[in-house]
Amino acid sequence: MSSPLTLSLKLPGRNHEYEILIGSGLLQELFIRTQFLEPSSVLFISDSNVAPIYLDDLLSQPWKVECSSLVLPAGEHSKSWSNLQLILDQLLEMKMDRRGLVIGLGGGVIGDIAALGASIYLRGIPVVHAPTTLLAQVDSAIGGKTAINHPLGKNLIGTFHQPSLVLSDTNALRTLPPRQLAAGMAELLKAALIADADLTASLEQCLGDCLVGDCELAPLIAKACEIKAKIVREDEHESGVRKFLNFGHTLAHALEASTPTGKLLHGEAVIHGMRGATVLSHRIGLLDLSVRNRILCLLDAFPSQSVSQWVHEERFWNAIHRDKKFAHGYLDLVLLRAIGSPVIEKISHPRQWITIPD
Ligand SMILES: NC(=O)c1ccc[n+]([C@@H]2O[C@H](COP(=O)([O-])OP(=O)(O)OC[C@H]3O[C@@H](n4cnc5c(N)ncnc54)[C@H](O)[C@@H]3O)[C@@H](O)[C@H]2O)c1
Repeated sequence: MSSPLTLSLKLPGRNHEYEILIGSGLLQELFIRTQFLEPSSVLFISDSNVAPIYLDDLLSQPWKVECSSLVLPAGEHSKSWSNLQLILDQLLEMKMDRRGLVIGLGGGVIGDIAALGASIYLRGIPVVHAPTTLLAQVDSAIGGKTAINHPLGKNLIGTFHQPSLVLSDTNALRTLPPRQLAAGMAELLKAALIADADLTASLEQCLGDCLVGDCELAPLIAKACEIKAKIVREDEHESGVRKFLNFGHTLAHALEASTPTGKLLHGEAVIHGMRGATVLSHRIGLLDLSVRNRILCLLDAFPSQSVSQWVHEERFWNAIHRDKKFAHGYLDLVLLRAIGSPVIEKISHPRQWITIPD
């Protein structure tokens, strides 16, 4: 086992700093690596796909304190009030005190709800993320956003609660279905496009290999984490630069809201969203044609998924108009002036400018 790549995230003005570790075999070291927290008890939260593969080994590490687990059904619908209640019930049954530790073992769904449970139990106990999807390793495990969904919309109930450690074991990605891997690569590419021309150039060399699992991902994950950590350090609560992380996401959310549930993974919708935002960036004169074409070429490397037969047009436009970034007739959209140079543009009459992805 080689030493992990290590980043540190310290939030300015706050007495909280945490490490993000990326490497192969890190789950085997979870017990050792969390001992600095001196937990008085531990609750693992995982899902029904991940737990059967990884949980037993983790529970059998030499914990000297009470160590339990809660396994939620896999899937986005698990980010619910009822599952949040289950987490709180179990923490109470364990009589976990404020030195107790919640460990989220899974993708972004588990990370979001586990961290929300930890953030409100006894007004906040530590959470460690052990992300097992690429999306969670490059994005959702970092930055402290927690959430469950509400029938009226995604991620509407949540808090900011920074983890105490993020431990990303790249071996876990070997069991990830290829579609999920591609969805995570989409978020990695997004990070590159908004912040790092060199990472974008590296992806031009290796994206195809990464998508078939034939590439060393740890350095790329570390780069994406560095980008996210830098943004979170500057703007923890998304009042400024953190909004750039939404590149491609406004159109992606509208697409997700207007296609039947389960047809598109979030990352797949983001690929369509980044394509639309790139084309628009060029159309309104921000982005050179050659750069537009380079970005579209990268996006074309992803397995193609036509959505035209599923999109409900009226729902798409309703979602755009309900978006929290739409106000007074203008939509605030993250666009690009160049690779690594995002900007928020006010788009009036979105229907004139935005084409529904096909
Ligand atoms: N908090 C944030 O800042 C933030 C950022 C981006 C996304 N998110 C949230 O993240 C969620 C999406 O995360 P996701 O894409 O990881 O989805 P997910 O957690 O649903 O995981 C995707 C699927 O992969 C399975 N899986 C996970 N790890 C596996 C492994 N190693 N082997 C086999 N199967 C595995 C899961 O069971 C699930 O079926 C959304 O709810 C989104 O809102 C949060």
